[in-house]
Amino acid sequence: MQQLADLGDTSGSKPGAIEVRDLSHVYDGVNGQVKALEDISMHVAPGKFTVIVGPSGCGKTSLLMMMAGLRAQTSGELLCHGAPIPQPDPKRVGVVFQEASLYPWLTAVQNVEFPLSLRNDPKTERRERALQMLALVGLEGFADRYPHELSGGMKQRVSIARGLVQDPPVLLMDEPFAALDEQTRMTMGHELLRIWSTTSKTVVFITHSLTEAVYLADEVLVMSARPGRIIDRIAIDLPRPRTYEMMATDKFGGLRERIWQQIRSAH
Ligand SMILES: Nc1ncnc2c1ncn2[C@@H]1O[C@H](COP(=O)(O)OP(=O)(O)OP(=O)(O)O)[C@@H](O)[C@H]1O
Ligand SMILES: [Mg+2]
Repeated sequence: MQQLADLGDTSGSKPGAIEVRDLSHVYDGVNGQVKALEDISMHVAPGKFTVIVGPSGCGKTSLLMMMAGLRAQTSGELLCHGAPIPQPDPKRVGVVFQEASLYPWLTAVQNVEFPLSLRNDPKTERRERALQMLALVGLEGFADRYPHELSGGMKQRVSIARGLVQDPPVLLMDEPFAALDEQTRMTMGHELLRIWSTTSKTVVFITHSLTEAVYLADEVLVMSARPGRIIDRIAIDLPRPRTYEMMATDKFGGLRERIWQQIRSAH
């Protein structure tokens, strides 16, 4: 419990890309109220890759939706680069969900440029930008394919390209690779790190895979079972760029073990 007191002190001296202070959330469900999140405080420095893990139902998606301006918290403060985020704003925060959620009637490039068309950007400009993003995620040559013509991993790449198209400084990802097979998932994680290192974005990433968490993160936040609280924060001090070989090291195993012990105690 001594840890918890330390964890509350997340203010840091530099302004965070994401700052959460004493955030709690209660849902009004049909069967009464559900306390989903309790006293969450966190500070994500700009450019950092933060991973959130925790038992199913502990409030990870709820927290991410609040960071994306898709849901308002019951109490507490949430700031993105110093300002609240009362509604979705893809220029400030991009979001990628577990399911690729592409529009089936639009091609890959049309899906990526969709957020830009909402802003009425000139057509040639937005097409060029969308094609750049498809190239960034390794999908040159697939711009005119429809979602049903793409594999699961490719659809998820299109989804990432769409999250990046407005060049938001913050990218939120909710189990983006959960539906993929292990090999594709590892490749996608590797690709994501490559994109992250070339775009220097702040990433907040949710996963149930502890290997993925250690492989990707600068810092892993572990949440307790509902109501979700942050019960541990673990610095992943493995060198970058990360390599597959690192996964076999004692250090990697030790970090994964520490997260696992915390999650077990979190139930
Ligand atoms: N719109 C809603 N109305 C009522 N309760 C909700 C709503 N959305 C989520 N909840 C409840 O809040 C809690 C947290 O849900 P949330 O989806 O944030 O968890 P999670 O950590 O993302 O879980 P998982 O790992 O399974 O995705 C759950 O108990 C869920 O039933
Ligand atoms: Mg979830």
